[in-house]
Amino acid sequence: AVLQLAVLVGSLRAQSFSRKIAKALAARAPDSVRCRFIEIGDLPLYNEDLDGDRPPAAWSGFRAAIRECDAVLFVTPEYNRSIPGCLKNALDVGSRPSGKSVFKGLPAGVVSVTPYQLGAFGANHALRQTFAFLDMPVMQQPEAYIGNVTELLDDKGAVTNADTAAFLEKFMTSLEMWIRTMHPGGSSFDA
Ligand code: FNR
Repeated sequence: AVLQLAVLVGSLRAQSFSRKIAKALAARAPDSVRCRFIEIGDLPLYNEDLDGDRPPAAWSGFRAAIRECDAVLFVTPEYNRSIPGCLKNALDVGSRPSGKSVFKGLPAGVVSVTPYQLGAFGANHALRQTFAFLDMPVMQQPEAYIGNVTELLDDKGAVTNADTAAFLEKFMTSLEMWIRTMHPGGSSFDA
């Protein structure tokens, strides 16, 4: 069966390098993986008081979209050695109400991105800390810290570095194997 892979990008800016890398990853996904970009920029900040019978429509839409997917790929910049607030908010929204987390059990992949030589490690591992609590089995290898990202892309956002392009393809192939190992026989959605 074709896998549905949610792609969450941890940057809201139009020219985001992380989104360019996410698109480059999606373009290199195996045919048996369908990437679905799910937007997180319009999710109201999580507030338990709003999470009653009629939660904000944006929250319900986001939760429904994740529920239709078999796994989640996170592509994110690093903010202050951690993950951007918008991404943490999306994780918080999807994780609630208690006992109804849409993330529970979903296999995950992480790619962190920085324009600098030193960066991306903090965001990558801050995310992994949250996956432990959310019970999301995250692929361990290959790890993906995309440094010096401005040197890897052209003006249109295409990956110009051949080694990077090959690595992104290998990452997606490995991620598919990881997802299928975690969900032999197909979709977590059917389970
Ligand atoms: C940053 N940036 C950054 N970079 C990094 O490698 N480590 C860090 O801790 C931080 N911290 C940080 C905090 C805040 C609030 C901002 C706005 C930026 C720089 C960041 O990597 C850079 O702006 C990227 O271009 C952001 O990713 P996108 O938007 O291009 O995907």
